[in-house]
Amino acid sequence: MRPTSVASFLVPLVSWLSGDSSSRHNELQTTNDPSVLQFELRHLHAVSSSTAHVIFADVSPQALKTLSSDTSGSTKSSYSVRSRLGKTYRPSSFAAHERARLRSLRFGENEWLDWDEEEIIGPDVESRETLLELAKMTNNAYVDPNDPAWYDLGDGWNASYPFGWEPDADGFRGHVFATPDNSTVIISIKGTSAGLFGGGGPTAKRDKLNDNLLFSCCCARIDWTWTTVCGCYRGGWKCDQTCLEDALASESLFYPIGTNLYNNLTYMYPHSNIWMVGHSLGGALSSLVGVTFGLPTVTFESPGERLAATRLHLPSPPSTHHVTHIYHTADPIAMGTCNGVLSSCALGGYAMETACHLGKSIIYDTVSNASWTVDIRTHGIVNVIERLLSDPWPPSVEVGREVPEAKADVDCVECFSWEFGDFPA
Ligand SMILES: *[C@@H]1O[C@H](CO)[C@@H](O)[C@H](O)[C@H]1NC(C)=O
Ligand SMILES: *[C@@H]1O[C@H](CO)[C@@H](O)[C@H](O)[C@H]1NC(C)=O
Ligand SMILES: *[C@@H]1O[C@H](CO)[C@@H](O)[C@H](O)[C@H]1NC(C)=O
Ligand SMILES: *[C@@H]1O[C@H](CO)[C@@H](O)[C@H](O)[C@H]1NC(C)=O
Repeated sequence: MRPTSVASFLVPLVSWLSGDSSSRHNELQTTNDPSVLQFELRHLHAVSSSTAHVIFADVSPQALKTLSSDTSGSTKSSYSVRSRLGKTYRPSSFAAHERARLRSLRFGENEWLDWDEEEIIGPDVESRETLLELAKMTNNAYVDPNDPAWYDLGDGWNASYPFGWEPDADGFRGHVFATPDNSTVIISIKGTSAGLFGGGGPTAKRDKLNDNLLFSCCCARIDWTWTTVCGCYRGGWKCDQTCLEDALASESLFYPIGTNLYNNLTYMYPHSNIWMVGHSLGGALSSLVGVTFGLPTVTFESPGERLAATRLHLPSPPSTHHVTHIYHTADPIAMGTCNGVLSSCALGGYAMETACHLGKSIIYDTVSNASWTVDIRTHGIVNVIERLLSDPWPPSVEVGREVPEAKADVDCVECFSWEFGDFPA
Protein backbone atom coordinates (compact mmCIF):
# COMPACT_ATOMS: atom_id res chain seq x y z
CA MET A 1 0.00 0.00 0.00
CA ARG A 2 1.29 3.48 -0.80
CA PRO A 3 2.14 5.87 2.03
CA THR A 4 -0.50 8.41 1.07
CA SER A 5 -3.24 5.81 1.04
CA VAL A 6 -2.12 4.58 4.46
CA ALA A 7 -2.50 8.07 5.86
CA SER A 8 -5.83 8.57 4.17
CA PHE A 9 -7.31 5.44 5.58
CA LEU A 10 -5.92 5.81 9.10
CA VAL A 11 -8.16 8.68 10.05
CA PRO A 12 -11.41 6.87 9.29
CA LEU A 13 -9.88 3.70 10.77
CA VAL A 14 -9.14 5.31 14.13
CA SER A 15 -12.60 6.76 14.31
CA TRP A 16 -14.06 3.47 13.23
CA LEU A 17 -12.22 1.58 15.97
CA SER A 18 -13.35 4.03 18.62
CA GLY A 19 -16.74 4.24 16.90
CA ASP A 20 -19.64 5.27 19.03
CA SER A 21 -22.41 3.00 17.91
CA SER A 22 -25.12 5.10 19.53
CA SER A 23 -24.57 7.77 16.88
CA ARG A 24 -25.36 5.33 14.10
CA HIS A 25 -28.97 6.32 13.77
CA ASN A 26 -28.33 10.02 13.47
CA GLU A 27 -28.74 11.81 10.21
CA LEU A 28 -25.43 11.35 8.49
CA GLN A 29 -25.38 14.90 7.12
CA THR A 30 -25.22 16.53 10.51
CA THR A 31 -22.45 14.50 12.04
CA ASN A 32 -18.80 15.41 12.46
CA ASP A 33 -17.86 11.77 12.72
CA PRO A 34 -14.70 11.29 10.61
CA SER A 35 -15.90 7.86 9.46
CA VAL A 36 -18.56 9.76 7.51
CA LEU A 37 -16.98 10.79 4.21
CA GLN A 38 -18.29 13.69 2.15
CA PHE A 39 -18.31 13.20 -1.62
CA GLU A 40 -18.79 15.80 -4.28
CA LEU A 41 -19.49 15.36 -7.96
CA ARG A 42 -16.34 15.79 -10.09
CA HIS A 43 -16.81 14.29 -13.55
CA LEU A 44 -19.29 12.66 -15.86
CA HIS A 45 -18.21 9.66 -17.83
CA ALA A 46 -19.64 8.03 -20.93
CA VAL A 47 -18.68 5.66 -23.67
CA SER A 48 -18.10 7.19 -27.05
CA SER A 49 -20.47 5.49 -29.44
CA SER A 50 -17.98 5.66 -32.31
CA THR A 51 -14.78 4.44 -30.69
CA ALA A 52 -16.09 2.68 -27.56
CA HIS A 53 -13.51 4.69 -25.60
CA VAL A 54 -14.36 5.99 -22.18
CA ILE A 55 -14.63 9.78 -22.20
CA PHE A 56 -14.92 12.23 -19.33
CA ALA A 57 -16.28 15.69 -18.72
CA ASP A 58 -15.46 17.85 -15.71
CA VAL A 59 -18.40 19.18 -13.76
CA SER A 60 -18.10 22.92 -13.74
CA PRO A 61 -18.30 24.92 -10.47
CA GLN A 62 -21.31 26.62 -12.04
CA ALA A 63 -23.14 23.32 -12.47
CA LEU A 64 -22.32 22.36 -8.88
CA LYS A 65 -23.72 25.64 -7.66
CA THR A 66 -26.95 24.97 -9.53
CA LEU A 67 -27.14 21.56 -7.91
CA SER A 68 -26.63 22.77 -4.38
CA SER A 69 -29.40 25.32 -4.82
CA ASP A 70 -31.86 22.57 -5.64
CA THR A 71 -33.80 22.16 -2.42
CA SER A 72 -36.03 19.31 -3.57
CA GLY A 73 -33.31 16.84 -2.62
CA SER A 74 -33.60 14.95 -5.88
CA THR A 75 -30.29 16.27 -7.12
CA LYS A 76 -27.48 17.43 -4.94
CA SER A 77 -23.82 18.23 -5.04
CA SER A 78 -22.62 16.58 -1.85
CA TYR A 79 -23.20 13.11 -0.40
CA SER A 80 -22.43 11.77 3.09
CA VAL A 81 -21.42 8.14 3.29
CA ARG A 82 -20.46 6.16 6.36
CA SER A 83 -17.31 4.11 5.91
CA ARG A 84 -15.87 1.08 7.64
CA LEU A 85 -12.88 -1.17 7.36
CA GLY A 86 -13.09 -4.28 5.23
CA LYS A 87 -11.00 -6.87 3.50
CA THR A 88 -10.37 -7.10 -0.21
CA TYR A 89 -8.25 -9.08 -2.67
CA ARG A 90 -6.27 -7.48 -5.46
CA PRO A 91 -4.32 -9.07 -8.31
CA SER A 92 -0.63 -8.15 -8.44
CA SER A 93 -1.36 -6.23 -11.66
CA PHE A 94 -4.11 -5.86 -14.23
CA ALA A 95 -1.74 -7.21 -16.88
CA ALA A 96 -1.25 -10.44 -14.89
CA HIS A 97 -5.02 -10.68 -14.37
CA GLU A 98 -5.76 -10.17 -18.06
CA ARG A 99 -3.08 -12.69 -19.07
CA ALA A 100 -4.56 -15.34 -16.78
CA ARG A 101 -8.10 -14.57 -17.97
CA LEU A 102 -7.30 -14.68 -21.68
CA ARG A 103 -5.23 -17.84 -21.31
CA SER A 104 -8.16 -19.52 -19.64
CA LEU A 105 -10.63 -18.15 -22.21
CA ARG A 106 -8.58 -19.03 -25.29
CA PHE A 107 -6.70 -22.15 -24.30
CA GLY A 108 -8.60 -23.52 -21.34
CA GLU A 109 -5.42 -23.31 -19.27
CA ASN A 110 -5.38 -22.18 -15.69
CA GLU A 111 -2.64 -19.83 -14.70
CA TRP A 112 -1.80 -19.14 -11.07
CA LEU A 113 -2.65 -15.60 -10.06
CA ASP A 114 -1.40 -14.01 -6.84
CA TRP A 115 -4.00 -12.06 -4.89
CA ASP A 116 -2.90 -9.56 -2.23
CA GLU A 117 -5.15 -9.37 0.78
CA GLU A 118 -5.69 -5.77 1.87
CA GLU A 119 -7.59 -4.01 4.62
CA ILE A 120 -9.27 -0.97 3.15
CA ILE A 121 -11.98 1.50 3.94
CA GLY A 122 -15.25 0.77 2.16
CA PRO A 123 -18.84 1.94 2.53
CA ASP A 124 -20.71 0.76 5.63
CA VAL A 125 -23.37 -1.36 3.96
CA GLU A 126 -25.18 -1.88 7.25
CA SER A 127 -26.15 1.80 7.34
CA ARG A 128 -29.42 2.56 5.59
CA GLU A 129 -28.56 6.24 5.08
CA THR A 130 -25.35 5.16 3.39
CA LEU A 131 -27.15 2.83 0.99
CA LEU A 132 -29.62 5.62 0.28
CA GLU A 133 -26.83 8.08 -0.56
CA LEU A 134 -25.07 5.54 -2.76
CA ALA A 135 -28.34 4.78 -4.56
CA LYS A 136 -28.78 8.48 -5.27
CA MET A 137 -25.28 8.56 -6.70
CA THR A 138 -26.28 5.96 -9.31
CA ASN A 139 -29.26 8.02 -10.41
CA ASN A 140 -28.71 9.97 -13.59
CA ALA A 141 -30.60 13.09 -12.77
CA TYR A 142 -27.79 15.33 -11.61
CA VAL A 143 -26.52 17.46 -14.39
CA ASP A 144 -27.60 18.15 -17.88
CA PRO A 145 -24.20 18.39 -19.47
CA ASN A 146 -25.01 21.12 -21.97
CA ASP A 147 -22.08 21.21 -24.27
CA PRO A 148 -19.58 19.80 -21.80
CA ALA A 149 -15.93 19.59 -22.65
CA TRP A 150 -15.58 15.88 -22.97
CA TYR A 151 -12.10 14.45 -22.99
CA ASP A 152 -10.81 11.08 -23.97
CA LEU A 153 -7.82 9.96 -21.95
CA GLY A 154 -6.96 7.40 -24.60
CA ASP A 155 -6.55 10.23 -27.09
CA GLY A 156 -4.55 12.49 -24.83
CA TRP A 157 -7.13 14.67 -23.07
CA ASN A 158 -9.00 15.72 -26.17
CA ALA A 159 -11.10 18.62 -24.93
CA SER A 160 -13.08 19.11 -28.12
CA TYR A 161 -14.66 15.72 -28.39
CA PRO A 162 -17.74 16.30 -30.49
CA PHE A 163 -19.71 13.17 -29.77
CA GLY A 164 -20.01 10.53 -27.14
CA TRP A 165 -22.70 11.62 -24.82
CA GLU A 166 -26.05 11.92 -26.40
CA PRO A 167 -28.97 12.48 -24.08
CA ASP A 168 -30.88 9.57 -25.56
CA ALA A 169 -27.89 7.31 -25.97
CA ASP A 170 -28.16 4.03 -24.28
CA GLY A 171 -24.58 3.13 -23.48
CA PHE A 172 -22.98 3.08 -20.07
CA ARG A 173 -22.50 6.40 -18.43
CA GLY A 174 -22.30 7.78 -14.97
CA HIS A 175 -20.51 9.99 -12.55
CA VAL A 176 -17.31 10.28 -10.58
CA PHE A 177 -17.40 11.61 -7.02
CA ALA A 178 -14.49 12.34 -4.69
CA THR A 179 -13.81 13.44 -1.14
CA PRO A 180 -12.34 16.97 -0.91
CA ASP A 181 -8.83 15.55 -0.35
CA ASN A 182 -9.25 12.96 -3.15
CA SER A 183 -8.52 10.12 -0.72
CA THR A 184 -11.64 8.22 -1.78
CA VAL A 185 -13.21 8.29 -5.23
CA ILE A 186 -16.51 6.68 -6.25
CA ILE A 187 -17.27 5.64 -9.83
CA SER A 188 -21.00 5.28 -10.40
CA ILE A 189 -22.37 3.50 -13.44
CA LYS A 190 -25.90 3.92 -14.61
CA GLY A 191 -27.34 0.97 -16.46
CA THR A 192 -28.44 0.75 -20.06
CA SER A 193 -32.01 0.88 -18.94
CA ALA A 194 -33.49 3.06 -21.67
CA GLY A 195 -33.66 0.14 -24.07
CA LEU A 196 -35.23 -1.97 -21.40
CA PHE A 197 -38.22 0.29 -21.08
CA GLY A 198 -38.74 1.27 -24.66
CA GLY A 199 -36.80 4.03 -26.35
CA GLY A 200 -33.15 3.32 -26.86
CA GLY A 201 -30.52 5.23 -28.75
CA PRO A 202 -27.82 4.59 -31.31
CA THR A 203 -25.86 2.15 -29.18
CA ALA A 204 -28.93 0.27 -27.96
CA LYS A 205 -28.55 -2.49 -30.47
CA ARG A 206 -25.01 -3.35 -29.47
CA ASP A 207 -25.80 -3.12 -25.77
CA LYS A 208 -28.74 -5.41 -26.18
CA LEU A 209 -26.58 -7.93 -27.96
CA ASN A 210 -24.00 -7.86 -25.18
CA ASP A 211 -26.57 -8.04 -22.45
CA ASN A 212 -28.23 -11.01 -24.02
CA LEU A 213 -24.90 -12.80 -24.38
CA LEU A 214 -24.00 -12.27 -20.75
CA PHE A 215 -27.31 -12.41 -18.92
CA SER A 216 -29.23 -15.07 -20.82
CA CYS A 217 -28.67 -18.82 -20.64
CA CYS A 218 -28.04 -19.54 -24.31
CA CYS A 219 -27.81 -16.63 -26.79
CA ALA A 220 -31.23 -15.37 -25.76
CA ARG A 221 -32.98 -18.39 -27.24
CA ILE A 222 -36.47 -17.80 -25.88
CA ASP A 223 -38.49 -19.70 -28.41
CA TRP A 224 -38.69 -20.15 -32.16
CA THR A 225 -39.94 -16.61 -32.72
CA TRP A 226 -36.68 -15.12 -31.45
CA THR A 227 -33.56 -14.54 -33.48
CA THR A 228 -30.77 -15.68 -31.23
CA VAL A 229 -27.81 -13.36 -30.66
CA CYS A 230 -25.27 -16.13 -31.23
CA GLY A 231 -25.39 -19.43 -33.06
CA CYS A 232 -24.76 -21.78 -30.17
CA TYR A 233 -28.23 -23.16 -29.68
CA ARG A 234 -28.29 -26.83 -30.65
CA GLY A 235 -31.95 -27.75 -30.40
CA GLY A 236 -33.85 -29.05 -27.42
CA TRP A 237 -32.21 -27.52 -24.35
CA LYS A 238 -28.66 -27.95 -25.59
CA CYS A 239 -26.14 -25.15 -25.85
CA ASP A 240 -22.54 -25.35 -27.06
CA GLN A 241 -20.28 -23.89 -24.38
CA THR A 242 -17.21 -23.23 -26.54
CA CYS A 243 -19.33 -21.47 -29.13
CA LEU A 244 -20.84 -19.33 -26.40
CA GLU A 245 -17.46 -18.26 -25.09
CA ASP A 246 -16.12 -17.54 -28.58
CA ALA A 247 -19.13 -15.32 -29.25
CA LEU A 248 -18.44 -13.43 -26.04
CA ALA A 249 -14.76 -13.02 -26.69
CA SER A 250 -15.35 -11.52 -30.10
CA GLU A 251 -18.45 -9.44 -29.49
CA SER A 252 -18.72 -8.24 -25.95
CA LEU A 253 -17.50 -4.80 -25.02
CA PHE A 254 -19.24 -5.03 -21.69
CA TYR A 255 -16.31 -6.00 -19.49
CA PRO A 256 -13.55 -4.04 -21.31
CA ILE A 257 -15.63 -0.85 -20.97
CA GLY A 258 -15.54 -1.32 -17.19
CA THR A 259 -11.85 -2.12 -16.95
CA ASN A 260 -10.98 0.83 -19.22
CA LEU A 261 -13.11 3.14 -17.12
CA TYR A 262 -11.33 2.04 -13.96
CA ASN A 263 -7.86 2.16 -15.52
CA ASN A 264 -8.52 5.62 -16.94
CA LEU A 265 -9.70 6.86 -13.58
CA THR A 266 -6.64 5.53 -11.74
CA TYR A 267 -4.61 7.60 -14.18
CA MET A 268 -6.40 10.72 -12.91
CA TYR A 269 -6.44 9.59 -9.25
CA PRO A 270 -3.36 7.39 -8.81
CA HIS A 271 -3.33 7.48 -5.00
CA SER A 272 -7.03 7.25 -4.25
CA ASN A 273 -9.04 4.45 -2.72
CA ILE A 274 -11.66 3.75 -5.43
CA TRP A 275 -15.16 2.35 -4.89
CA MET A 276 -17.69 1.23 -7.47
CA VAL A 277 -21.46 1.71 -7.34
CA GLY A 278 -24.00 0.97 -10.06
CA HIS A 279 -27.62 0.33 -10.89
CA SER A 280 -28.99 -2.52 -13.02
CA LEU A 281 -26.55 -3.51 -15.78
CA GLY A 282 -24.30 -0.74 -14.47
CA GLY A 283 -24.37 -2.62 -11.17
CA ALA A 284 -23.40 -5.89 -12.85
CA LEU A 285 -20.53 -4.09 -14.57
CA SER A 286 -19.47 -2.45 -11.28
CA SER A 287 -19.34 -5.86 -9.66
CA LEU A 288 -17.18 -7.40 -12.41
CA VAL A 289 -14.78 -4.45 -12.15
CA GLY A 290 -14.86 -4.61 -8.34
CA VAL A 291 -14.04 -8.32 -8.38
CA THR A 292 -11.23 -7.77 -10.89
CA PHE A 293 -9.49 -4.98 -9.00
CA GLY A 294 -10.56 -5.72 -5.41
CA LEU A 295 -12.69 -2.59 -4.99
CA PRO A 296 -15.43 -2.04 -2.42
CA THR A 297 -18.58 -2.26 -4.55
CA VAL A 298 -22.29 -1.68 -3.99
CA THR A 299 -24.89 -2.42 -6.65
CA PHE A 300 -28.63 -1.83 -6.85
CA GLU A 301 -31.00 -4.21 -8.65
CA SER A 302 -28.20 -5.87 -10.61
CA PRO A 303 -29.09 -8.93 -12.68
CA GLY A 304 -27.16 -12.04 -11.61
CA GLU A 305 -23.60 -11.56 -12.84
CA ARG A 306 -22.01 -14.76 -11.60
CA LEU A 307 -22.52 -16.58 -14.88
CA ALA A 308 -21.13 -13.59 -16.79
CA ALA A 309 -17.99 -13.72 -14.62
CA THR A 310 -17.61 -17.42 -15.45
CA ARG A 311 -18.20 -16.90 -19.15
CA LEU A 312 -15.68 -14.07 -19.23
CA HIS A 313 -13.22 -16.36 -17.39
CA LEU A 314 -12.58 -13.86 -14.63
CA PRO A 315 -9.97 -15.30 -12.28
CA SER A 316 -11.63 -15.91 -8.86
CA PRO A 317 -10.21 -14.06 -5.89
CA PRO A 318 -10.17 -15.90 -2.51
CA SER A 319 -13.35 -13.98 -1.61
CA THR A 320 -15.71 -11.57 -3.36
CA HIS A 321 -17.37 -10.35 -0.17
CA HIS A 322 -16.22 -6.79 -0.79
CA VAL A 323 -19.08 -6.70 -3.33
CA THR A 324 -22.57 -6.08 -1.93
CA HIS A 325 -25.73 -6.28 -4.02
CA ILE A 326 -28.91 -4.55 -2.88
CA TYR A 327 -32.14 -5.75 -4.47
CA HIS A 328 -35.70 -6.66 -3.69
CA THR A 329 -37.91 -9.61 -4.49
CA ALA A 330 -40.45 -7.75 -6.66
CA ASP A 331 -37.79 -6.91 -9.26
CA PRO A 332 -37.81 -9.60 -11.96
CA ILE A 333 -34.47 -8.45 -13.39
CA ALA A 334 -32.47 -8.81 -10.19
CA MET A 335 -34.31 -12.00 -9.30
CA GLY A 336 -33.65 -13.56 -12.74
CA THR A 337 -37.33 -14.17 -13.35
CA CYS A 338 -37.69 -11.82 -16.28
CA ASN A 339 -37.90 -14.59 -18.83
CA GLY A 340 -40.49 -16.39 -20.85
CA VAL A 341 -41.95 -15.24 -24.14
CA LEU A 342 -44.50 -12.87 -22.64
CA SER A 343 -42.33 -11.27 -19.97
CA SER A 344 -41.71 -7.54 -20.16
CA CYS A 345 -38.01 -8.24 -20.74
CA ALA A 346 -38.69 -10.50 -23.69
CA LEU A 347 -41.08 -7.94 -25.15
CA GLY A 348 -38.28 -5.37 -24.94
CA GLY A 349 -35.88 -7.72 -26.72
CA TYR A 350 -33.98 -8.80 -23.63
CA ALA A 351 -33.55 -12.22 -22.12
CA MET A 352 -32.53 -11.63 -18.53
CA GLU A 353 -32.38 -15.11 -17.13
CA THR A 354 -29.44 -15.21 -14.75
CA ALA A 355 -30.20 -15.18 -11.04
CA CYS A 356 -26.98 -15.80 -9.10
CA HIS A 357 -24.86 -12.97 -7.74
CA LEU A 358 -21.23 -12.81 -6.65
CA GLY A 359 -20.27 -11.40 -3.25
CA LYS A 360 -23.05 -10.87 -0.74
CA SER A 361 -26.63 -9.75 -1.26
CA ILE A 362 -28.90 -7.61 0.89
CA ILE A 363 -32.32 -8.73 -0.24
CA TYR A 364 -35.45 -6.81 0.72
CA ASP A 365 -38.42 -9.16 0.61
CA THR A 366 -40.81 -6.54 -0.68
CA VAL A 367 -43.21 -9.21 -1.96
CA SER A 368 -43.74 -10.83 1.46
CA ASN A 369 -43.10 -7.88 3.73
CA ALA A 370 -44.54 -4.97 1.80
CA SER A 371 -47.05 -6.68 -0.49
CA TRP A 372 -45.37 -5.46 -3.66
CA THR A 373 -46.32 -7.18 -6.91
CA VAL A 374 -43.56 -8.52 -9.12
CA ASP A 375 -43.26 -5.87 -11.83
CA ILE A 376 -40.44 -4.59 -14.01
CA ARG A 377 -41.37 -1.03 -13.03
CA THR A 378 -40.07 -1.69 -9.50
CA HIS A 379 -36.59 -2.12 -11.01
CA GLY A 380 -35.92 1.60 -11.44
CA ILE A 381 -33.49 3.39 -9.15
CA VAL A 382 -36.00 6.12 -8.30
CA ASN A 383 -38.32 3.45 -6.94
CA VAL A 384 -35.46 2.04 -4.85
CA ILE A 385 -34.61 5.48 -3.51
CA GLU A 386 -38.11 6.66 -2.76
CA ARG A 387 -39.95 3.52 -1.75
CA LEU A 388 -37.28 1.17 -0.41
CA LEU A 389 -34.45 3.10 1.23
CA SER A 390 -35.92 6.45 2.25
CA ASP A 391 -37.69 5.11 5.33
CA PRO A 392 -36.64 2.58 7.95
CA TRP A 393 -37.38 -1.00 6.87
CA PRO A 394 -39.67 -2.47 9.58
CA PRO A 395 -38.60 -6.16 9.31
CA SER A 396 -34.98 -5.07 9.93
CA VAL A 397 -35.78 -2.54 12.63
CA GLU A 398 -37.68 -5.28 14.50
CA VAL A 399 -34.49 -7.29 14.83
CA GLY A 400 -32.33 -4.29 15.72
CA ARG A 401 -30.83 -3.71 12.30
CA GLU A 402 -31.04 -0.91 9.76
CA VAL A 403 -31.02 -3.12 6.65
CA PRO A 404 -31.44 -6.85 5.98
CA GLU A 405 -28.40 -8.98 6.63
CA ALA A 406 -26.00 -9.46 3.71
CA LYS A 407 -25.70 -13.09 2.68
CA ALA A 408 -23.87 -14.97 -0.05
CA ASP A 409 -26.02 -16.70 -2.72
CA VAL A 410 -24.66 -20.12 -1.79
CA ASP A 411 -27.40 -22.43 -3.02
CA CYS A 412 -28.25 -20.43 -6.10
CA VAL A 413 -29.01 -22.32 -9.32
CA GLU A 414 -29.74 -20.78 -12.70
CA CYS A 415 -30.32 -21.96 -16.27
CA PHE A 416 -31.07 -25.36 -14.76
CA SER A 417 -33.10 -26.63 -17.69
CA TRP A 418 -30.18 -26.11 -20.07
CA GLU A 419 -27.42 -28.56 -20.87
CA PHE A 420 -24.11 -26.87 -21.68
CA GLY A 421 -21.32 -28.85 -23.27
CA ASP A 422 -19.56 -29.87 -26.40
CA PHE A 423 -22.24 -29.91 -29.08
CA PRO A 424 -20.52 -29.11 -32.37
CA ALA A 425 -22.84 -27.64 -34.97
C1 LIG B 1 -8.08 4.80 -21.20
O1 LIG B 1 -8.89 3.82 -21.84
C2 LIG B 1 -8.60 3.64 -23.20
C3 LIG B 1 -9.63 2.72 -23.77
O2 LIG B 1 -10.89 3.31 -23.62
C4 LIG B 1 -7.21 3.09 -23.34
O3 LIG B 1 -6.91 2.89 -24.70
C5 LIG B 1 -6.24 4.06 -22.72
O4 LIG B 1 -4.95 3.51 -22.72
C6 LIG B 1 -6.64 4.38 -21.29
N1 LIG B 1 -5.80 5.46 -20.82
C7 LIG B 1 -5.20 5.41 -19.65
C8 LIG B 1 -4.34 6.57 -19.32
O5 LIG B 1 -5.32 4.47 -18.88
C1 LIG C 1 -9.99 15.83 -30.83
O1 LIG C 1 -10.99 15.01 -31.45
C2 LIG C 1 -11.48 15.53 -32.66
C3 LIG C 1 -12.57 14.61 -33.15
O2 LIG C 1 -12.21 13.26 -33.00
C4 LIG C 1 -10.35 15.64 -33.68
O3 LIG C 1 -10.84 16.22 -34.88
C5 LIG C 1 -9.25 16.53 -33.11
O4 LIG C 1 -8.16 16.55 -33.98
C6 LIG C 1 -8.80 15.98 -31.75
N1 LIG C 1 -7.86 16.91 -31.14
C7 LIG C 1 -6.70 16.51 -30.63
C8 LIG C 1 -5.86 17.57 -30.00
O5 LIG C 1 -6.33 15.34 -30.66
C1 LIG D 1 -8.21 16.37 -6.51
O1 LIG D 1 -8.25 16.01 -7.88
C2 LIG D 1 -8.57 17.07 -8.76
C3 LIG D 1 -8.68 16.49 -10.15
O2 LIG D 1 -9.96 16.07 -10.38
C4 LIG D 1 -7.54 18.17 -8.66
O3 LIG D 1 -7.92 19.24 -9.51
C5 LIG D 1 -7.46 18.64 -7.22
O4 LIG D 1 -6.41 19.58 -7.09
C6 LIG D 1 -7.19 17.47 -6.29
N1 LIG D 1 -7.29 17.92 -4.91
C7 LIG D 1 -6.40 17.57 -3.97
C8 LIG D 1 -6.63 18.12 -2.60
O5 LIG D 1 -5.44 16.86 -4.22
C1 LIG E 1 -41.27 -10.62 6.49
O1 LIG E 1 -41.41 -11.80 5.71
C2 LIG E 1 -40.91 -12.96 6.31
C3 LIG E 1 -41.09 -14.07 5.32
O2 LIG E 1 -40.42 -13.78 4.15
C4 LIG E 1 -41.63 -13.25 7.60
O3 LIG E 1 -41.04 -14.36 8.25
C5 LIG E 1 -41.53 -12.03 8.51
O4 LIG E 1 -42.32 -12.25 9.68
C6 LIG E 1 -42.01 -10.78 7.80
N1 LIG E 1 -41.81 -9.64 8.66
C7 LIG E 1 -42.69 -8.64 8.72
C8 LIG E 1 -42.36 -7.54 9.65
O5 LIG E 1 -43.68 -8.61 8.02
